[in-house]
Amino acid sequence: MERQAKPFVKWAGGKGQLLADIRSKYPTELGKRIDKYAEPFVGGGAVLFDVLNNYDLREVYISDVNRELIHTYTTIRDNSGALIAALADMERAYNAPNADRATIYYNARERFNSLKLADSNGVELAALFIFLNRTCFNGLYRVNRKGEYNVPQGKYAKPTICDADNLRAVSEKLQRVTAVCGDYKLSRNFIDDHTFAYFDPPYRPLTTTANFTAYAEGGFDDSEQASLAKFIDDIATKGAYFTASNSDPKNYDERDDFFDALYCQYTITRITATRAINAVGNGRGRVSELLIARPHDRIL
Ligand SMILES: C[S@@+](CC[C@H](N)C(=O)[O-])C[C@H]1O[C@@H](n2cnc3c(N)ncnc32)[C@H](O)[C@@H]1O
Repeated sequence: MERQAKPFVKWAGGKGQLLADIRSKYPTELGKRIDKYAEPFVGGGAVLFDVLNNYDLREVYISDVNRELIHTYTTIRDNSGALIAALADMERAYNAPNADRATIYYNARERFNSLKLADSNGVELAALFIFLNRTCFNGLYRVNRKGEYNVPQGKYAKPTICDADNLRAVSEKLQRVTAVCGDYKLSRNFIDDHTFAYFDPPYRPLTTTANFTAYAEGGFDDSEQASLAKFIDDIATKGAYFTASNSDPKNYDERDDFFDALYCQYTITRITATRAINAVGNGRGRVSELLIARPHDRIL
């Protein structure tokens, strides 16, 4: 049996736990008449891999503004052998008895930043990206004003750094995937009436102090949420199917109709997710989130 591919990084806002809800919004003709898939805010790609594992598609397009993330996707696609060898070396060194893990981690972070700032596109940058994701605090990706990755070391007893079987499965699934580093709007020409697109932008913060948008350089404010809604209108008018995720402002303010107004011509489903929430201390809590979709049975 063909091995199923799964996300190769832990990613803020990862959709693994919501797959069943999101699947229920896939158009019924996916894999048949709808034979193209686009995921313009791909992140860790939980939905991407679910779609690649379960449907035969003619063309797939992914993008993200995080250059090192997209570089890692293309390295896995085009050079998985060298990447796996580099990660296996890193795992051996980090998990060796008596390893000085803090020194290994902070040296790796410094090396990653020098390659990142030099716009490297080598295998080493991708290997360090995965190494840091597996060994840093909570799998976070955060950069300072100078663009340097600055997440501290995490405390995992024996982290898996090189999951060779999954990287091979991911490589296989990515063979026919176009991966673009850049803004979601670059997907406009790809998306047509044979396309299903899933949009998972940085969430609108639930409170003014919550900072959920620090994925890469740049943020995503209300005017950008509105531009995205306009972009989605344009592709839906072209005949594309879509599903979009976002936070539900009504968790904190029942009167906040921001998304209900922006997406009033679509179906909005409220689902429950478990998230780390500042407002309940350091704990995790259950919150409502939005799934916005074009009704499957209605031509716009
Ligand atoms: C909520 S995360 C996606 C999480 C993903 N669904 C998963 O399962 O891991 C949002 C992603 O959008 C990217 N992003 C932010 N602004 C963007 C833009 N203007 N165009 C494309 N990607 C963007 C971020 O780098 C981040 O990876």
